[in-house]
Amino acid sequence: MFPVIKLASETLTERYNPSLFNYFHETFNQGFLVAEKHHKIVGFIVGVKTSLEGARILMIAVSEKQRGQNTGSVLLNHFLKEIIIQKIKHVELEVKISNNIAIEFYRKHGFIIIDTISKFYQSGEDAYTMRLIL
Ligand SMILES: CC(C)(COP(=O)(O)OP(=O)(O)OC[C@H]1O[C@@H](n2cnc3c(N)ncnc32)[C@H](O)[C@@H]1OP(=O)(O)O)[C@@H](O)C(=O)NCCC(=O)NCCS
Repeated sequence: MFPVIKLASETLTERYNPSLFNYFHETFNQGFLVAEKHHKIVGFIVGVKTSLEGARILMIAVSEKQRGQNTGSVLLNHFLKEIIIQKIKHVELEVKISNNIAIEFYRKHGFIIIDTISKFYQSGEDAYTMRLIL
């Protein structure tokens, strides 16, 4: 678990209590996926089921060196496959309105912006909620 927590702290702007990672892994381990290269963790995704038919992506990140090489897409597609098996029909997430790369990434995968949440982040920045219908 430590390499994932380390990668999260290097790549994400929000700070998460390390115990949350174990909690999410234990509650929905199908939604906790990592990407490895040369036995090193270079990316991860954490998602949870929020209802019988809904899921939410809480975190996705790829190490800086590994970006732009499809790793994020592979992680997201695996996650989507897992939740389709669980009969999930829609998946949502929040993203900083200034995070153009992530917004583009999610758009490429079919997500659309459905809402804006004021001051969602610890920094006070607003979030977009994006949704994908499966
Ligand atoms: C968002 C993130 C996970 C994408 O991972 P990645 O492995 O680099 O993404 P991929 O290589 O699979 O890219 C898939 C698509 O995303 C979009 N994309 C990725 N990087 C991009 C960039 N720098 N500029 C514009 N679009 C980009 C493109 O549409 C790309 O498709 P293409 O390669 O056909 O152009 C990665 O940039 C990251 O870890 N960012 C920091 C953490 C973060 O912001 N997480 C999201 C928080 S909500």
